[in-house]
Amino acid sequence: MTTQSLTLDRPLDMHLHLRDGEMLSLVAPHSASCLAGAVIMPNLVPPVDSLESLLSYRERIRAACGADAERFQPLMTLFFREYSHEELAAARPHLFAVKLYPHGVTTNSEAGVRSIESAAATFQAMEELGIPLLVHGETSGFVMDREREFLPIYERLARQYPRLKITMEHITTKAAVEVLDKYENLAATVTLQHLLITLDDVAGGLLQPHLFCKPIAKRPEDREALLGAALAGHPKLMMGSDSAPHPRHAKEGCGCAAGVYSAPVLLPRLAELFEEHGVLEKLQGFVSDHARAWHDLRNVPARQVTLLKESWTVPMNYTGADGVTTVVPFEAGRTLPWRVRP
Ligand code: DOR
Ligand code: ZN
Repeated sequence: MTTQSLTLDRPLDMHLHLRDGEMLSLVAPHSASCLAGAVIMPNLVPPVDSLESLLSYRERIRAACGADAERFQPLMTLFFREYSHEELAAARPHLFAVKLYPHGVTTNSEAGVRSIESAAATFQAMEELGIPLLVHGETSGFVMDREREFLPIYERLARQYPRLKITMEHITTKAAVEVLDKYENLAATVTLQHLLITLDDVAGGLLQPHLFCKPIAKRPEDREALLGAALAGHPKLMMGSDSAPHPRHAKEGCGCAAGVYSAPVLLPRLAELFEEHGVLEKLQGFVSDHARAWHDLRNVPARQVTLLKESWTVPMNYTGADGVTTVVPFEAGRTLPWRVRP
């Protein structure tokens, strides 16, 4: 007999872009309606890099979540810059983590770090205060090599700050999976798309702008390694969608913005994938338990989310209340076997 329903306890998206303004209003409900919480990325323009801007952003997120605001916990992050111990201590009660972007490697990272070495005092303060470090680990080298080239930097940070919890965000390579096992203080997130696609799906035929993201999807053996670790229930691998909406015109015009908008299909598509491989029972760990254990998260809203084996077809796009803001979701037009029970 096949499974007809699946209830997930406190599902969490450990890497989510919600944006601001009209886009925030459009996309927040897609996550808030089916998750107990999410780690909110700070790469707005200007970046979220003060307690004041973090608190006001959190209020805008709450407002955009409407009736789900009480059941969906935004885990707020600050954009990495050199912070004093005092600043971080003051932010600590409201802060989940600090997110580091190397300068210029992705969307809105112009204010990113130019020299990791010169930020030692901030890492030390984070370590002392128990504030996790989330890292977009890419160099500015050749696009297929950027993550691999960054791995020694992860290793150095892990050795230099042994009590700092470091998350390698959205890993895309076999080499990154291997580094994960070398250091106790390293964990990783992986996206839905990087479990499913390779560079071939992005650029092997007609160019697929809605599959273009940073880091770029890699080789088949990389995807296999990521999928293998996720399906095996690797305890330090957490679901982080990196769902990153851009208006349709910014994806389909000349100069495509990086980002895959996966929030509307996240849990159903993962259930399909895990079921296909006969390990549906491993989904709970991947979407919640690993993250709660790693980060010792105790105040996540006690929310259960049920998936039903009922097919639905992913909309070709979603349009905001302004009638203008339009985003195209991952798997647009595809029929999925699982849906989230409303
Ligand atoms: O593809 C991406 N989009 N990668 C990132 O690191 C940032 C994100 C965004 O903010 O659009
Ligand atoms: Zn991201």
